[in-house]
Amino acid sequence: MYVLTGGAGMIGWIIAEHLAINYRASIAIIQRSFPVRQEWDNWLADHPEDDPGSRTIREMIQAEKLGANIAVYPADVSDYGQMADAIGAIECELGAINGVIHCAANMGAEFFNPVTRLDEALCRTIFQPKIDGLLVLDKLLDDKDLDFCLLMSSTAAVLGGYGFAAYSAASVFMDTYTKTRNKHRQAKWKTVDWEAWRREAKAEAGYTSSIGDLAMSPEEGIEALKRVLSAERYHHIVHSPGTLDKRLAEWVQLQGISEGKPVQPRDGQKKRQRPAAMVEYEKPSNHLEKQIAGIWEEFLGIRDISIHDNFFELGATSLTLIRIKSIVEETLSLQIPIVDLFANPTIAALAKRIGQIENGGHDGQEDARLSGLESGRSGLTRQLQFRKSAGTDSGAYN
Ligand SMILES: NC(=O)c1ccc[n+]([C@@H]2O[C@H](COP(=O)([O-])OP(=O)(O)OC[C@H]3O[C@@H](n4cnc5c(N)ncnc54)[C@H](OP(=O)(O)O)[C@@H]3O)[C@@H](O)[C@H]2O)c1
Repeated sequence: MYVLTGGAGMIGWIIAEHLAINYRASIAIIQRSFPVRQEWDNWLADHPEDDPGSRTIREMIQAEKLGANIAVYPADVSDYGQMADAIGAIECELGAINGVIHCAANMGAEFFNPVTRLDEALCRTIFQPKIDGLLVLDKLLDDKDLDFCLLMSSTAAVLGGYGFAAYSAASVFMDTYTKTRNKHRQAKWKTVDWEAWRREAKAEAGYTSSIGDLAMSPEEGIEALKRVLSAERYHHIVHSPGTLDKRLAEWVQLQGISEGKPVQPRDGQKKRQRPAAMVEYEKPSNHLEKQIAGIWEEFLGIRDISIHDNFFELGATSLTLIRIKSIVEETLSLQIPIVDLFANPTIAALAKRIGQIENGGHDGQEDARLSGLESGRSGLTRQLQFRKSAGTDSGAYN
């Protein structure tokens, strides 16, 4: 019998469904706001077909038909009293707990802000399930004879990421706490810094990007999970589908960026058509827009990017922007602050901003840049929301 905090979330449910169907394990899902079994029919009647909760409920019902035993226990993982009650009820109704997977997290795109917009409340929101929840679990599980307790941490712990300061900190805490805790306890916990998972198979996901290309399908995720759980000697594992050293060099040592080396990632590869759902196509109208369009089309491997397409919605990530910066600077022979790339996430907006820079418009632009940064951030937010609604979440953040 396995307990999954946040088990109705994207990754939690991929794992829960696998354990329930393939191992006939009883599954207890601990969730703050997911409906319990008796409420599923009403939920389905009251919510649209494409509601993410409805989709999960339909899959749960399908799993039940295949013999799965799934129960939802409403509790906030960071609340000791609620969790004590939930664990008590789980043991009473489903029997002894064999393993726990801690997936609970607040992953809404609105929580991933640049440091300049990070406040205590936002940090608390990120820390609550990951840090407070972890401490509550440690207290409550201390006397249990578990086969494993697996913490779902993130590569943000080692790679950081734009807007990930609080999330990285929470991930580092999970990893460090596990290491310290394991020194004093017989039953070892395991923490895994995961790269992105996606709910859809790659072909269904509808976008590609450097992170998108790395994100695991559910099948790949389950395979990785099996390897993680069978690697008994290791209690802290970093999961990196790409070469970790290369990514550390890019993200942490900022190699290539500080040296101003342009990156040409898609040499010789055929370009894809831009997604049909984007705004109506408007072609570049001047030389600068054409140059910027050429850079982005080459980098993202997409043809005919409209001057109003949002780079983030096309699959750009914060890392993409950092890498694009050096190409833009080399091609146009100018220096452009990274904030301007985040703040002007379309060809038209970027061309306008570059025009201002060329005319000496660095100064007196702070307000415009801050509001622009907000629109760039919401572009990133939209991309994250798009990923969420597509069930691909990740995050440029993971
Ligand atoms: N998605 C990725 O690609 C990725 C990559 C690396 C690591 N991870 C890690 O993997 C874990 C799962 O990620 P995910 O993408 O599956 O997230 P998700 O879809 O957002 O699921 C997380 C679930 O946690 C629940 N939750 C949040 N706060 C809670 C609390 N205080 N008590 C109980 N439940 C709570 C949420 O539901 P309620 O709001 O209803 O409670 C939500 O359903 C996270 O820890 C994340 O950091 C994810």
